[in-house]
Amino acid sequence: MNKILKVLLPAVMLILMLGAFTACACDEDDAPPVQQQPGQQGPQDNVETPPNVPGEAVRVGVSMPTMDLQRWNQDGANLNRLLSARGFDVDLQFAANDVPTQVAQIENMIGAGAEILVIAAIDGDSLTEVLAQAYERDITVIAYDRLIMNTPAVSYYATFDNFLVGVMQGEFVRDALDLPNQDGPFYIEFFTGDPGDNNINFFFPGAMSILQPFLDDGTLVSPSGQTAIAQVATIAWSSENAQTRMENLIALNNLTPGGNPLHAVMCSNDSTAQGVTQALRNAGWEADGFPIITGQDCDIISVRNMIAGYQAMSVFKDTRVLAENVVEMVAAIAEGREVPINNTTDYNNGVLYIPTYLSDPIVATLDNYRELLIDGGYYTEAELYG
Ligand code: BGC
Repeated sequence: MNKILKVLLPAVMLILMLGAFTACACDEDDAPPVQQQPGQQGPQDNVETPPNVPGEAVRVGVSMPTMDLQRWNQDGANLNRLLSARGFDVDLQFAANDVPTQVAQIENMIGAGAEILVIAAIDGDSLTEVLAQAYERDITVIAYDRLIMNTPAVSYYATFDNFLVGVMQGEFVRDALDLPNQDGPFYIEFFTGDPGDNNINFFFPGAMSILQPFLDDGTLVSPSGQTAIAQVATIAWSSENAQTRMENLIALNNLTPGGNPLHAVMCSNDSTAQGVTQALRNAGWEADGFPIITGQDCDIISVRNMIAGYQAMSVFKDTRVLAENVVEMVAAIAEGREVPINNTTDYNNGVLYIPTYLSDPIVATLDNYRELLIDGGYYTEAELYG
């Protein structure tokens, strides 16, 4: 990285750290970041990257997919806080789940002199062109949580072990229904996330690595027969889309407490689980005897659903840890140190194997959620219990 500030002397760092709190593009404590609407920020043509003046803070562009889901607000806020505290000049943008908006925001970050980009892609296949500009300008790109496909521009990837997330969901269903010791049939439907999010190619196969053998031997049956990833995807991971599909599945096979049975719905995350839960409640299911619903993220709504008996589990991915890992990566890049990674063999983006730092997900249930989330300082009692 020839343009990265290589020598960060302690005294300079101190000045930068003090300055960065005012330089940061958006401070979540004072004013929440404004979500950009499609078309609000157009690409800036003919913008030259300003030269990096020695002594200036390194500019880091942070591109998050949306403010609609709780987790990305948390991720954005954590990154902003931690990067600012380390003296970086942060440009944080949320893209309203709209690909052209995200592309425009990244173009603007490049034009404004970002030297490192941290990007959680809306659609992993849609950033090839804009990242060609980053590549040309020797900007280091870190794919955040979601891998960015088909570009040589991605230097690092930081995420959780997403296959393991799926395995945890599959194992939970297997154990809750005691599948190895039962003849069944148990009835199950499947929901995963947005087809453009490369993570579903880990979550869903992870879950299926556990559940497919039971579908094959008839212990598990999908009433709709929809078990292929393309059939069970949920555009934009939206709760509304998941609810609509679940309502259709209910109608298709008369899945109601008094009608045909439904024992489980394997949902890849909490936002889809919430839509499915709503559809099942509307169809008459009560907490007692509710189908087993899986999730991921420990969203506040889903934890509340868990406490109320509507969602059986979630997977806790501590976004504070992910943000800390990424900030360590950014600092190492800026200071010319070795970047922390722990996987070089599993994440190929179609062009390269991307050096990756994987963090561990943890199963969250009624038994351990207090310890994980409240004792662990992730949420306050007031946030969970209202
Ligand atoms: C993330 C999940 C999240 C989903 C929807 C995935 O890429 O890994 O944590 O639930 O996106 O935002």
